[in-house]
Order: sequence, then C-alpha cells, then structure tokens
Amino acid sequence: MCGIVAYVGNRQVTPLLIEGLKRLEYRGYDSAGLAVVNDEGIHVGRSVGRVSVLEAMVNENGGFNGTLGIAHTRWATHGAPSEPNAHPHGGVTHEGHRIALVHNGIIENYSTLKKYLIKKGHTFESDTDTEVLSKLICELYQGDIEKAVQAALREIDGTYGIAVVCDREPHTLICARKGSPLIIGVGENSYIVASDAAAIISHTSQVITLEDHQVAKLCAGPEDKLGDGGPWAVQFKTTTVDNIPVTPEVTQLDFDLEQIELHGFNHFMQKEIYEQPEALRNCLRGRLDHRDGRVVLGGLSRYSRELIRAKRFILSAQGTAYHAGLIGEFLLEDLAKVPARCEYASEFRYRNPIIEPDSVAIAISQSGETADTLAALREARDRGALALGVVNVVGSTIARETDAGVHLHVGPEIGVASTKAFLGQVAVLTMMSLYIGKRRFLSDEVVRSYITELDQMPGHIERVLEQFDHIRACTEHCIDRDNWLFLGRGYNYPVALEGALKLKEISYIHAEGMPAAEMKHGPIALIDQGMPVVFVATQGSQYEKVISNIEEVRARGGRIIAVATEGDERITQYSEDVFYVPAVPEALQPMLTVIPLQVLAYHAAVLRGHDVDKPRNLAKSVTVE
Ligand code: G6P
Repeated sequence: MCGIVAYVGNRQVTPLLIEGLKRLEYRGYDSAGLAVVNDEGIHVGRSVGRVSVLEAMVNENGGFNGTLGIAHTRWATHGAPSEPNAHPHGGVTHEGHRIALVHNGIIENYSTLKKYLIKKGHTFESDTDTEVLSKLICELYQGDIEKAVQAALREIDGTYGIAVVCDREPHTLICARKGSPLIIGVGENSYIVASDAAAIISHTSQVITLEDHQVAKLCAGPEDKLGDGGPWAVQFKTTTVDNIPVTPEVTQLDFDLEQIELHGFNHFMQKEIYEQPEALRNCLRGRLDHRDGRVVLGGLSRYSRELIRAKRFILSAQGTAYHAGLIGEFLLEDLAKVPARCEYASEFRYRNPIIEPDSVAIAISQSGETADTLAALREARDRGALALGVVNVVGSTIARETDAGVHLHVGPEIGVASTKAFLGQVAVLTMMSLYIGKRRFLSDEVVRSYITELDQMPGHIERVLEQFDHIRACTEHCIDRDNWLFLGRGYNYPVALEGALKLKEISYIHAEGMPAAEMKHGPIALIDQGMPVVFVATQGSQYEKVISNIEEVRARGGRIIAVATEGDERITQYSEDVFYVPAVPEALQPMLTVIPLQVLAYHAAVLRGHDVDKPRNLAKSVTVE
C-alpha cells in the first residue's frame, strides 16, 4: 500500500524524505513524490516508477531546499500510475495560499465532494480521490491549516493517513489518521511522521502512534517564529477532528535499524527465510514451560475461562495469513477439540455471518493493518465474539482493537512475500491450541511431548535450510515450465496452497495448490509431459493415499517434486527430486514442510530475474479492501 513520510525540524528535509521513502517502498511502488516548503513556497516533485527515479529527478532539478516536507510512495487504487496521479496533491486557497498533501487510504465519498468542489470553481488535474481532499482543505482554509484539515476530515467518509503542509505556515506539519497507520517519531528539534516504523527508526525510537480520528500539529522552527523554547523550538499538539485536545502517549519502538538491513543476503526474502530458526526461537521464548508441562501465553490469561468455554473459533485473514489460519483450523480441532473454521476476512465481513454465543474470533495478520482482516474482526466482535489477534506488528491497529492476543515476535518482515511471519503465525496457533487443549481434553503427557517437540523445531528448520542449494538445482530443471501444481493432504494441504502462492507471487509462474485428492476432479487434465507437480508427502496418517496420488500424476507424465520425511527412501522411486524434512508429529509438519517451498519460490524468482522483494503489482500491507 502507499507509504507516507514527512518531516519538520532543523535538517535539510529532501535526503531524509528520500531515505524514508526507500524504506517504505515495499508498501507500494508505482510512483513517488515529495513537496518541500521554504520561504519561496512549496516545491513539488513527482515521478512514475521507483523512488530512485524521484531521487534522480530531485537531484537534477534542485530547489528542494527546506526543513519541512512531505513525501509519498504510491500503489495505485484510484487512477493509473502516472505523474498527475502521484502524490503530493495540492490546491490553492481563496487567499492564494498553496497547500500540499500526501494520503494513504481511500476517500469513499470523493465523487460527491468533487462535484461540490467543481461548483465552487476548483479544477482537477488527477483521477485520484486524494486530490479531492486537498481541494476541500483549500476550500475550507481560513488562515489556519490545522482547522482547515479538521474541518475537511469531518466531511470525509473512508480511510486516511495524511500529512499536509501550507506555504503560509512554513514551520507547521499537520497529520491525521483514520484506518491507515501513521506514527510520529519525536526527535531532537524535529518530528518525523511515517506509515511505518521502518522509516523512523534511524532518527528516533520515541514514537507516538496516532489513533483514528486524531489530528497532530507539529511545528519546528526558529524561536522567534514559534515562541518560547530556545533558539530552535518545537511544538506538538494532538486533537480530535472535532478539535478536542488529546494527550498523546510516547512509547519506545521495539526493534532497531540493524534488524531491517540486509546483513549480506541478496534479498530480504532470503534473509527472512534464513532468519526463521531464530525468529521461531523468539516466538517460542518464555512460552513453553517444560517444568509444568504447559504453554504460557500471558496475552490470553485474562480470557482463559472464555477460551475453555468457547464453542466455536472463527479465524479470518488474507493471503499467506489465511493459509496459516487454515492450519490453525486443523490445530484447534485436533489439539483443542473445538470446532474451528478459517475464512477469507473479505468474504466473512460481507456475508452477514452467524456468530453463536461463546464464539471466539481470531484475526491473523503480519502487519496488523490489513483492511479486510480488521473489518472482519470488528464484525465478529460487534456480533458478540471474543476478539483475539495473532499479529506481528506491535501497536498495529488489529493488535490494539482486539480484546486479547498473542504477538508473533518474529521481528520486522520486509520482503513482500511473507515467510517468517507465516511460521510465527502457525507456531502461535499451535501454542494457542495446546493452551486451550490442556484445559479441555489433552493429557499432560501429550502437551509435554508437544512442548519438547516444539523446542526442537528451530534446529529442524536449520537442517531443512541446508538444502538451499540443492533446491536451487532442482528448481533450475523446471524453470522454463509455466504451470505448476502443489498438492497435499490434511495439515499439509494448506502448505500446498502456500507453496503455490509463494511461487506465483514472486516468480509470476502460474501455480495452483489444492488437496491432493481434488486433483482428480479436474486439474488432472492439465498434467502433461514434464509438468512440475509438488507433493507434500511427509509420513503420517495419509501417506499411502498421497503415494497413490503421486502415481496417478506420474502415469500422465508429470514431474514429481516431493517434500518427504528424512529416511523415506521409498519416495525416491516416485520422484525426480526430493526435499527432506525431519520427522515430527503431523500437527507440527507444516512448520517444516513450508520451508523448502519458500526456498523453491525464491530460487524460481531469482532464476527468472525478478525483483524478489518487490514483486509487480503487490504490496506488503493491503490497507484498502
Ligand atoms: C498481502 C501480502 C501478503 C500477506 C497478506 C496479508 O497480500 O502481500 O504477503 O499475506 O497481505 O497481510 P497481513 O499483514 O494481514 O498478514
């Protein structure tokens, strides 16, 4: 999704904005722009393509000197990626002052407002909803940019994270949010605002997370322009859109810049794949009590009675998190013995769902900002369900809106294709199922054995990763094939879906995942000589059935790539390539079987020459529905 960065302080703003935009590029990247305010007015630069194109343009043109500015990297929703549609958008007030604005979100009533503004004499240069908001602010401006923004936001339906500047107030930055994330970093003599902590952390770790419907006025400038406070003064003020003062809470960011650098890896996805053993250790840390043979989840303790009583679990998520949720469905039914269903949040929210008493809704999300997942959570909560979150980003909207939850603690995930967050989501859902199961039907002995097994999982993942180069060699054999199938049964069926998603999202190879038996009901018609078919064929209750499915594919010329259990020699008779994972109980297999499929997708994307971390048309965090 779009990313915002804005700064007001005592340093030259343009390099700061460009650096911030580069850190946010993973959110969306079809165009970018910035506006810098100085004594001569507002200077706007916009370009289509990556932030580096904007950087080159700004360096060539000069004139972007100043200590106040706003910037944006865009992922198109309204209007094609083009220079006129790139942010910042602006307008001119009745008195001839200029404003500029960057926006993340969607203005739903933009067409009504546009008609009104056209009648008032405004003209429009872009197809965007954002330009409507910028013109509305101009229309309502009466000498005070904060008041004009508040007034405009009162007229808006939809979501927004915005940053606004006006040339009449050259030391003032206004920002506001509803539904789109926005964080304010509080530096020395400066403020930096961004959609994501990644753009803030190199400046400060002190942050204020703006709440929905709040507007912040941030000023920094020479003392004589601002009043008291020393030669360079800063001022901060937060209100609601109705101008009611709010006292903001300053908190400490919980990760450092080093965590978000590449550390010698070629891509963030590769780094994040390799980080998984450590990420899992962090996720499990302090949560497995070997002495008492129980799982400790502090975030759930207040609701343990509701969880024991629960009659039904409803999991909702999108993308990779949805696949983790499907595994959660198996885990909750298998280990906690409670009915569970996982649904696409986007479908759940609109289908007038029946929520029975004693239902628990679980929203699963890496970012904690996915619009549909958030809306599904609200829907379930409004209908009486206990709302839980399984979220990575601390302080994100979903994390804050749930009754309780469990953070993944896998560290920031930068690569658009989710890897370590998926692992963390499955690990947390496993622990939740054991936590509930122990209080319902699971024997102490079974819980203890799972705890011991879980503790060994990071080491197992390290072993799987030793096959990184082997998987590359196997991928090379099939890299020219444009259609792949991924098949699995039981716990490994969602892993097959995830394997197919990983491959298609970064290598642009068409891939489908499905339950292995479903293949016979149509997709088998696709199989021709050499078509790669990936079977997740680990040993377990359905192993023999999977072998039969493998034979059906082989008989039609398909090229079998198997993910199998270490020591399984038999599988080599049926498969061209085998990736081995250590033997673990079926419920824990997905945490291992997904790893070779992530690696396979990674190699396929690299071999095909694609930008692994920034796949075309995709965004890391989808904050529009
Ligand atoms: C986007 C990302 C996926 C992610 C999905 C859900 O589509 O590209 O990698 O799985 O959103 O995101 P969330 O942050 O809610 O887990």
